[in-house]
Amino acid sequence: MTENGKKRLFIKTYGCQMNVYDSARMADVLAPLGYTPVDSPRGADMVILNTCHIREKASEKVFSELGRLRAFKQAQEAAGKDMVLAVAGCVAQAEGEEILRRAPQVDLVFGPQTYHRLPEMVVRAARAAGKGDPKAGLLDIDFPVESKFDHLPEETADPGATAFLSVQEGCDKFCSFCVVPYTRGAEFSRPVAAVLAEARRLVAAGVQEITLLGQNVNAYHGAAEGGGTWGLGRLLRALAEIDGLNRLRYTTSHPRDMDDELIAVHGDEPKVMPYLHLPIQSGSDRVLAAMNRRHTADDYLRIVERLRRARPDIALSSDFIVGFPGESDADFAATLRLVNEVGYAQAYSFKYSPRPGTPAAVEDNQVSEAVKAERLAGLQQLLGEQAEAFNRACLGRRLPVLLERAGRKPGQLVGRSPYMQAVHVSLPALAIQRLKGQLVEVAVEAVSANSLTGRLIVDAEPSHPRPAAPSIATRSRISA
Ligand code: 5AD
Ligand code: SF4
Repeated sequence: MTENGKKRLFIKTYGCQMNVYDSARMADVLAPLGYTPVDSPRGADMVILNTCHIREKASEKVFSELGRLRAFKQAQEAAGKDMVLAVAGCVAQAEGEEILRRAPQVDLVFGPQTYHRLPEMVVRAARAAGKGDPKAGLLDIDFPVESKFDHLPEETADPGATAFLSVQEGCDKFCSFCVVPYTRGAEFSRPVAAVLAEARRLVAAGVQEITLLGQNVNAYHGAAEGGGTWGLGRLLRALAEIDGLNRLRYTTSHPRDMDDELIAVHGDEPKVMPYLHLPIQSGSDRVLAAMNRRHTADDYLRIVERLRRARPDIALSSDFIVGFPGESDADFAATLRLVNEVGYAQAYSFKYSPRPGTPAAVEDNQVSEAVKAERLAGLQQLLGEQAEAFNRACLGRRLPVLLERAGRKPGQLVGRSPYMQAVHVSLPALAIQRLKGQLVEVAVEAVSANSLTGRLIVDAEPSHPRPAAPSIATRSRISA
């Protein structure tokens, strides 16, 4: 407890942007109970681990963190205070019973669908912990039929210049490697009016850039007020009409849901940023079929072609999995070919890791660790070269950058280009406070594989130019 009676809340977030968003909502939900976010678990009245189950060793990491936290909890108890320890998110959803069995210091386990019930759970858990009861070990991992979105309070914290806005949850695609349909549940879209109202609130609080979030965001089909449903393209058009909202992004998309309207909006709505994370996972049709992706490499290439026709400078990103069960050298070569054909501005790549409960985990033709490691190194080398080539093509250009926060070095602000590149800008001390949160023009003076560095162009009006494609020298080789 702080001196002014506030309770300290420490949330550690693992994984994706959806989890970052959920953690912020948990803090909002708990604020009326007097919980204030702090940066360390030391002396905290409540600690939440918001976990992610998508990739390797997720549950081991959570158990080892819980081991460390036990010491903090014991220190609190020795000082006559309590610490409510909670595990949230996808590991909680998938392994709730196991967590309570293996980590008795945990008071509360709740899944991604139930955090709007958090205040009630916390009061019950705190009461049990305070009484020194053998803890309640509350477990709330249902998939409720009601939407958690309906129960969330409005945001309380100052959001800054950029914000996430969750519009869709869950997934019905059942890719054979993925736990999301089991941990996040069925696909659900938030109604259009609720999304527009939240966006207006964010903009009134100073937000200029909104990233729409969903596990399968472009499957969005929100109920519209006049009846019927809107797809993501139509939603983006309506959001673009909000004055003061200057940039729109969305993630993560599935190729099967890139419909005509969504592709068109990239061409005719300048507020929709020329960057798209569109995972393909593999370039081999055989592997794509085994993954249950239900599209071919060629389908994906046709979508890329249409996107580029609509918005020639669009920067593409993807996720790749190497070493999926049964992946041969020829399958992997097809992935490298596809990467060369598309030319990515950046991408994420992973070794396949069996997730319990998913169909691919029980395939008997698993690829050896050594082969996975070798393929991953080869793919990352190629993707790294492409990212660097993409950044190099921006050298000497002027880019609009939304300066978000302090950079790594003193006297620097960092923000994003339209293409999602991190851009560092050195500024005089007096300008830093004034320009934080502003959209400015930057002349790019240096590049690396991961970021750009530039100089503020003082006399320029911030603009949304339609720049020429940062033509990647290696055009012939240029990731839901
Ligand atoms: N093994 C490896 N990578 C995975 N991903 C999801 N599940 C697995 C798995 N079992 C990757 C996919 C997905 C990204 C978020 O995580 O590439 O797009
Ligand atoms: Fe998982 Fe994305 Fe496939 Fe859904 S579409 S099952 S979230 S990889």
